[in-house]
Amino acid sequence: STQSLTALLLAYVIGSIPSAVWVGKIFYGIDVREYGSGNAGTTNTFRILGKKAGIPVMIIDVFKGWLACYLAHWFSTYNPDSTQFVNFQLSLGIIAIVGHIFPVLAGFRGGKGIATLFGMVLAIHFQAALCCCLIFLVILTISHYVSLSSMLASFAYPMLIIFAFQVPNKSVVLFGVCVAVLVLVTHQKNIERLLKGKENKSYLFKRKIT
Ligand code: G3P
Repeated sequence: STQSLTALLLAYVIGSIPSAVWVGKIFYGIDVREYGSGNAGTTNTFRILGKKAGIPVMIIDVFKGWLACYLAHWFSTYNPDSTQFVNFQLSLGIIAIVGHIFPVLAGFRGGKGIATLFGMVLAIHFQAALCCCLIFLVILTISHYVSLSSMLASFAYPMLIIFAFQVPNKSVVLFGVCVAVLVLVTHQKNIERLLKGKENKSYLFKRKIT
């Protein structure tokens, strides 16, 4: 319907909001994509501009994923417990992540989708999202690699959905598997650097992540 199409388009535009690029350009006069990993995301903003820029970028990017899923409440009349509703939410969230990775508002060069994915995952299954967050933080504390932490938390996601929480909805299970694949695809360069021992290290308890 026109209503669903409008919602999907809106989800793409929301996902497209290039917070890392805009915060860098507006407040620091630089494009974060020219520095560090070259990624327009939370991690690279922390790395290049510190937490004053990184925290707002993280909040905006997480919120984009959550909000895109929330659009289902405004643009559909399905019962929130129905499969149709959850399918619609999944479509909206995925479109927002695509928007974040390929943003129309920033020359289609965006981020890797982790923060926006987390916002979406929060909306889809809150407890599984919290488990992923915990896994991410533990691995980051031990390894100091954000990319590795993102990937391992994403691999844990389908396991949590299938085995720990035994979510019956097949679309959510399929989505969980897609998450793991998507994150592998967006982290190609990180994987290469990790294998060469050249990945950037990030320290949680330092002023700037370097
Ligand atoms: O935020 C995405 C993270 O997993 C990796 O970011 O900038 O180190 O490539 P980056």
